[in-house]
Amino acid sequence: MNFLTLTSPLDMHLHLRQEAMLQAVAPLSAETFAGAVIMPNLVPPVDSLERVHSYREEILQACGRDDFDPYMALFFRNYTREELEAAREHIIGIKLYPAGITTNSEGGVSQIEEAEPTMRLMEELGIPLHVHGETNGFVMDREAEFLWVYRHLAKTFPKLKIIMEHITTAAAVELLDEYENLHATVTVQHLLITLDDVAGGMLNPHLFCKPIAKRPEDRTALANAALRAHPKLSFGSDSAPHPVHKKECCGCAAGVFTAPIALQILAGFFDQNNALDKLQAFVSDNACRIYGVTPPKKTVKLENKPFSIPAKYGDVVPMWAGQEIPWSVAEIS
Ligand code: DOR
Ligand code: ZN
Repeated sequence: MNFLTLTSPLDMHLHLRQEAMLQAVAPLSAETFAGAVIMPNLVPPVDSLERVHSYREEILQACGRDDFDPYMALFFRNYTREELEAAREHIIGIKLYPAGITTNSEGGVSQIEEAEPTMRLMEELGIPLHVHGETNGFVMDREAEFLWVYRHLAKTFPKLKIIMEHITTAAAVELLDEYENLHATVTVQHLLITLDDVAGGMLNPHLFCKPIAKRPEDRTALANAALRAHPKLSFGSDSAPHPVHKKECCGCAAGVFTAPIALQILAGFFDQNNALDKLQAFVSDNACRIYGVTPPKKTVKLENKPFSIPAKYGDVVPMWAGQEIPWSVAEIS
């Protein structure tokens, strides 16, 4: 197949930042995606309805178009019933970060039990819970060590929709089928790279993210789930831009920037695995069903024609900068 047309692609996990960075990256996502779940880990975090409204306005202004819907997420803290009732219609869910686990998560949750009263309310009000599922243990084991928390929450709150964000292990893929209320997102990098690509040879800071890429067998399990468009799995890029000086330095910030190249890379990957017919479900249909969203209509025509990934987008170096990939965007309407 030389062409593939996707309808209303969605990115169910995206970092857009603020100010100049927001102005630079928001239009790039809005070009090829019809909607995205916007992460609230700003400084200070997006943890009130007022902030949800103002941040959404800033995003729409930065995009300058009406065919991209930012699905807003609140930063998890303990909320009152009144706050949640007021916020419910304006958010897609609430994102829980364990305290200090990643960029701007210092105000996150330290004890999961303390979060449970709010989770009970969310369950009752039908507000999904998005989770960065890592402990602060040994870096390769952090997701595995967190899985008991997912099990515990899935059992304790059977009606709470729980999204395991950016899963990176075979064990997390298996967990998806154990509890009806568990869902997941997966990034493009975790489908394609392992720890070897990050640190096995020359260190590649542009592939360093949290959770860190894992073992070949984990990548295989994630790839198999994505390539068959596992019905509880959606694409979430976790595209997380940092300026080049924060990446190419000692103390490299975590985050891989993929937003403008994600669909092209995914098309190549699905094509290579004879699964192009599953890409629409993986990048849009599953998400529409899981999150109950109806995105703006947008068609993205991809072509089996080489594309050179730019060295930089503004001040941000993307994944695989300078490399040629087999698929490109031909037309957007
Ligand atoms: O690599 C990451 N970067 N992982 C996260 O969880 C946060 C993100 C960011 O905001 O930079
Ligand atoms: Zn993220």
